[in-house]
Amino acid sequence: MTAPRGCWPNQLLVNAHLMDFLLTPYLVAGICAALVVACSFKLLRRPNLDHIPVVGPSSLLASYWFTKGLEVDHTERFVQEGYDKYKSRAFRVASLTHWVVYLHRSHLQDVAMTPEDHLSFNHAADNAFRTEYTFGLNINDDYHLPLIRLTLSRNLSVLYADLRDEIVAACNEYLDLKHNEWKTISAVQATLKIASRASNRILVGLPLCRDSDWLDMNINLPRAVVDEARILRLFPSFMVPSVSAVALLFVTNLSERTRLGFVFLGPVIKERLQHMEAEGTDWDNKPNDFLQWCMDSKEETSLTSLTRRIIAINFAGIHTTSNTFSEALLNLAENPQYAQALREEVEAVVSNYGWTKEALSKMRKVDSFLKETQRFEGLSVLGLSRKAMSDITLADGTFIPQGTFLAFPAHAMHHDDAVYENPNMFKPFRFADMRNKEFEGSRHQMVAITPDLLSFGLGRHTWWA
Ligand code: HEM
Repeated sequence: MTAPRGCWPNQLLVNAHLMDFLLTPYLVAGICAALVVACSFKLLRRPNLDHIPVVGPSSLLASYWFTKGLEVDHTERFVQEGYDKYKSRAFRVASLTHWVVYLHRSHLQDVAMTPEDHLSFNHAADNAFRTEYTFGLNINDDYHLPLIRLTLSRNLSVLYADLRDEIVAACNEYLDLKHNEWKTISAVQATLKIASRASNRILVGLPLCRDSDWLDMNINLPRAVVDEARILRLFPSFMVPSVSAVALLFVTNLSERTRLGFVFLGPVIKERLQHMEAEGTDWDNKPNDFLQWCMDSKEETSLTSLTRRIIAINFAGIHTTSNTFSEALLNLAENPQYAQALREEVEAVVSNYGWTKEALSKMRKVDSFLKETQRFEGLSVLGLSRKAMSDITLADGTFIPQGTFLAFPAHAMHHDDAVYENPNMFKPFRFADMRNKEFEGSRHQMVAITPDLLSFGLGRHTWWA
């Protein structure tokens, strides 16, 4: 499916005269001045963190030289250094635009239990992605969360057959293996496609979940959003609305991505709306997917915002899933000696339970392999990113002023020998062994949320908690 151009009603038309004017030296000077003012405000308004020790560059701007421009690739080294040095204390590391205070394991429960209006996941995510300008969604408008946490979790057993069907169809198409032949594939590209199809089978159903243009749009989205948000982060939040027209025109691609998303989703939504108008809440073959749950909730009626929401959930789901999956495949390629044990387990369990959700919970070695992959590689150096919305004093007396960005050094914690034996060794059946030592040991399952592994977070923002 290709997108017709120029059909989006809110599209901005820019003519050559306007561009000539906009690109004059006056405008360039104006933007530079705005940036200087913005940076000064940002520096003046930052919370006072003098009581928290610094690791790495000692000022925000100095961090620029250590971070190769906008590529923040030394964070891991500084965070590990701080973790080793300060043991049970908080420390801070500079990013280009703000300090991040890294907390200790003993602060985990405190942070997980603190309500959103004091320690905010949404505001931290907004700082990272500038959601209003990149996705067009208000950060507090999160009615989709109970739909993911409750409705999706409740429906997983029913949806499992669809999910499996989609994964098998996607593997057949993208791997296209004949008999016992060997072929070279990109693990990252293949898993991205498989994960995006599987997620979209649950999000929007057939046939859209198989539309390669829709999938490509969602797969390519994170790179664009991260780049756009990096530029917007240079402006303090209070300035962003006043530069929003410029931001929406030059920095973010929101209207184009909404328009394109609508080209794919619009007909699907309209068809469902017709059913809802004609037949009420139920009809033959009514879809059971996330889009339909959103529509049934009647929380939003605008087609634009529904489109934007589905795009945002795709953003949250695809790369997280495919990254875990591709890392696991690469670990298996590096350690082929474990393939036989995994295969035997799958064959034995499936012969007893079939391909069911229940069977998955019996596959202890497979589950452990995936969980160890998350521990060993992890998606991110940090976990549980939050923004303090008020002054907070943690149980051990650590004072966190309003406006501070917090996180936990997830990678360092996952590699701490006080928590894991031989933490720097990839031990695929580490968690299966732990489970076998205990009666049921479900707390060592991949989906169990524990302070020892922050891959899915902790507290209310882990969506099945
Ligand atoms: C292996 C796969 C995944 C990983 C590792 C992962 C990881 C995470 C993490 C670390 C958080 C933040 C939690 C916190 O800071 O407390 C999060 C939040 C979230 N994830 Fe995932 N995720 C995965 C798959 C998915 C999928 C498939 C979806 C969508 C269908 C999804 C939707 C969300 C949403 C909506 C949130 C925000 C929750 C909130 O605002 O309360 N995730 N995820």
